[in-house]
Amino acid sequence: VVDIRKLYAQGDVFTYDPGFTSTASCSSTITYIDGDAGELLYRGYAIEDLAEKSHFLECCYLLLYGELPSAEDLEDFESRVTRHTMIHEQMHNFFRGFRRDSHPMAIMTGVVGAMSAFYHDSTDINDPWQREVAAIRMIAKMPTIAAMAYKYSVGQPFVYPKNSLDYSGNFLHMCFAVPAEEYVVDPILSRAMDRIMMLHADHEQNASTSTVRLAGSSGANPFACVAAGIACLWGPAHGGANQACLEMLREIGTVDRIPEFIARAKDKEDPFKLMGFGHRVYKNFDPRAKVMKQSADEVLGLLGIEDNETLKVAKELERIALEDDYFVSKKLYPNVDFYSGIILEAMGFPTSMFTPIFALSRTVGWISQWKEMISDPEQKIGRPRQRYTGAPRREYTEIEDR
Ligand code: ACO
Repeated sequence: VVDIRKLYAQGDVFTYDPGFTSTASCSSTITYIDGDAGELLYRGYAIEDLAEKSHFLECCYLLLYGELPSAEDLEDFESRVTRHTMIHEQMHNFFRGFRRDSHPMAIMTGVVGAMSAFYHDSTDINDPWQREVAAIRMIAKMPTIAAMAYKYSVGQPFVYPKNSLDYSGNFLHMCFAVPAEEYVVDPILSRAMDRIMMLHADHEQNASTSTVRLAGSSGANPFACVAAGIACLWGPAHGGANQACLEMLREIGTVDRIPEFIARAKDKEDPFKLMGFGHRVYKNFDPRAKVMKQSADEVLGLLGIEDNETLKVAKELERIALEDDYFVSKKLYPNVDFYSGIILEAMGFPTSMFTPIFALSRTVGWISQWKEMISDPEQKIGRPRQRYTGAPRREYTEIEDR
């Protein structure tokens, strides 16, 4: 690793790296990825072990504070998060300002940004206590906000958090309970949701996390930074891929149509890409995709819908692509989004909720990375340079002479 800044200060070097394919923007102790080996570690712990043995709030503690909690610390953390799940009644008005059929991601971007107008007693980034309160508030309130965005988008009344439930169960309750009808959270679905959240919790300097860090580098408050992260996540090349992937699998429809779509993905003239395939860092199987595939099998099996046509198309598409020279030579493997949509659909979520669920899961990663950045003495305002390719200096031409 070369510290280019020293060479730049001597006037020796100027790097050009669109998309930051080979530029580290920070040092971090949070998440490690080995893209060639297909390895992902949170604070040194393998994602496969965490997915099997841990749960989402324990992962949140690990990402935020760097160590697995003791039983006592975990209990204290869970109770602090649980205490903050409600949002102020007045905040309901934020939601009501949106068109009734708005995409939940549009609502979330706006409402989370507006939290800085509401919770301004935790926006002083120089006060460690306020930083801590902002972190807990965001982790606690994000499921409530995502669920409310969903309820609003389908014209149903908001459902308040039920704090006797665990984090993922509470989220399912807020999404699927309706007044005057009893809703019992299915433990299979709650565990599957918890696992989806764990798998998405952090992923080092991906586009949305880099956006959060860049916004935060100017001293912006954490709510504004996370709103910027949500906006970035929405794109189909990033968090929006899970919605796009399921829509693609549905469009393919039956296994006999797969070759037609594979041919399109390989055609340079066609902008179509196989959604859920490829990754900037993984040049091997995304380890999260392996866990997600196993989870999809389990959940659909337990729900008695193993013969799900979308899952059949997904499995066959994966098999064909992994044997195809184009995908093999470009090291294009299924990523985490390839199977998550199938599980979410089986749970009853519409595709428009897939990316909001990614956003609420990634909130802890964004906040952990933001906290790390704020306390890093090396941190400077993020200010990329450019390679100017426009016109050289020229004389202004009066309008009548143009
Ligand atoms: N289908 C077909 N071809 C692909 C795909 C794909 N899904 N992904 C990459 N390629 C091809 C590109 O066309 C390019 O070909 P070329 O060398 O002939 O020009 C080559 O593989 C390299 O791809 P790049 O786009 O340069 O790789 P990059 O690192 O910039 O992009 C990305 C990674 C954005 C994830 C890309 O693979 C993609 O768009 N995939 C589909 C969307 C998706 O699933 N996104 C989710 C990412 S994971 C996440 O956010 C949680």
